[in-house]
Amino acid sequence: MSKQKIKEKKKIVKAKPGKEKPRTDAAAANTGNKKTYALLRGMHDVLPREEKYWKNFYHTAEHLAEHFQFSRIETPLLEEANLFIRSIGKGTDVVDKEMYVFEDRDGNKVALRPEVTASAVRAYIMHGMWNMTQPVKMWYWGQMFRYDRPQAGRYRQFFQVGFETLGDADPVVDAELILLAHNFYKDLGLPVEIHVNSIGLPEERQKYKTALVEYYRSKRSYLCDDCKQRLNKNPLRLLDCKQERCQPVKEDAPQIIDWLEEESKNHFMKVLEYLDELAVPYVLRSTLVRGLDYYTRTVFEVYPVVSDVNALGAQSALGGGGRYDLLVQEMGGRPSPAAGFSLGIERSVSALKQYMDANQIKPPVQKFDAYLAQLGDQARRRALKAINDLRNSGLKIDYNFSKNSLKSQLEAANSLQVPYALILGQKEVQDGTVIIRDMESGVQEIVDQKKVENVLKKKLSRFDDDK
Ligand code: HAM
Repeated sequence: MSKQKIKEKKKIVKAKPGKEKPRTDAAAANTGNKKTYALLRGMHDVLPREEKYWKNFYHTAEHLAEHFQFSRIETPLLEEANLFIRSIGKGTDVVDKEMYVFEDRDGNKVALRPEVTASAVRAYIMHGMWNMTQPVKMWYWGQMFRYDRPQAGRYRQFFQVGFETLGDADPVVDAELILLAHNFYKDLGLPVEIHVNSIGLPEERQKYKTALVEYYRSKRSYLCDDCKQRLNKNPLRLLDCKQERCQPVKEDAPQIIDWLEEESKNHFMKVLEYLDELAVPYVLRSTLVRGLDYYTRTVFEVYPVVSDVNALGAQSALGGGGRYDLLVQEMGGRPSPAAGFSLGIERSVSALKQYMDANQIKPPVQKFDAYLAQLGDQARRRALKAINDLRNSGLKIDYNFSKNSLKSQLEAANSLQVPYALILGQKEVQDGTVIIRDMESGVQEIVDQKKVENVLKKKLSRFDDDK
């Protein structure tokens, strides 16, 4: 090993005094002399076996985006830290406790994005999107970073899918977004409940906060320690408290709806009327306030309807969103009302799996048209080309070159539930033929290799009505 390499190795292994080594979920294991690596705390891999769920989620989102005319926006994972601090707000958990903030090599204060709404607003202003036909509808899918305390459903890197409508104040936009969230889970087959509320405009909220603090102060001795702190720091979060002892106080607390002016009340009424018209069920929840500062008027959150909500951990909201009419202006753009929401993918996948397990629903399996089984070296060489040709003609062919016996390959075909197996052995290679086996009846037919594509497509056409 070169001197340079030895030095580098020492640097990695020895943490500097006073500096903590990065914590990992499991201690790095030692295999012989070789060090292996574990994940950083709160990080996770999405393994190939999860793909069937993730792909389905992505396709459902993409399909809905197309249907509701949202265009994809891709923003950087790294942005100026102030973008998030100004929009999400000092005093929120995301900004105060959870942001990954650091200086880059030029000394700029940057942050890994904890969400995309602020970035979408930045892009809207920066690219002069207010000059386009309004509203501008954008959707995204990607990783977010929050230095949260890891637990069930809470990661430090997680995926969100989100939809943002900028440049339109009409309550129909709020209803359309709630409908979209509702349809997303409906299409995936997961029953959810959508909680809605209105938190009004900042002036209305300020008056409400004063009343809330006054009320809670009079009940101070009944409150948990966290709530005593919230009372001074962030009174709206009092309404989030899950502690048993605070519940009776919360139940009798003043409700924000009573502090809304006519215009905000009307806006909310119209959103609810649209939802009734669309037959989208919702739960009115007067204590729903959301944890980010930029919201005005409508806010909503999505919860799974599962028998064991506790299994999802305390963080059971699958997603949330609302209106943020003042944010574009606050971030330096022209006044442009807006609304949006995002859904957490890990939490949603986990809720769907639990629901499927509880109801004995099988996960989706990828459907192949045929399985190609090969026997012997020559056949294997021919098989790879045959698979590629069939794939180019639009057929989905599965195979496994590490299996050599016909029995094990047919067993694999059987477990995949493919309707046909294509068998290619030494004899078939020499004759220029392939055997097509009907997996249900076991009937086999010898076909010219040049004709296999057409014969297979013809046979498969009998399933067309099932699609
Ligand atoms: P949020 O409520 O902070 O809203 O996050 C939305 C969803 O992201 C949560 O309901 C949850 O499913 C998921 N999520 C949040 N933190 C974590 C975590 N640590 N681990 C796993 N999943 C998590 C927003 O982010 C807003 N930008 C939503 C929005 C869009 N409002 C308007 N437009």
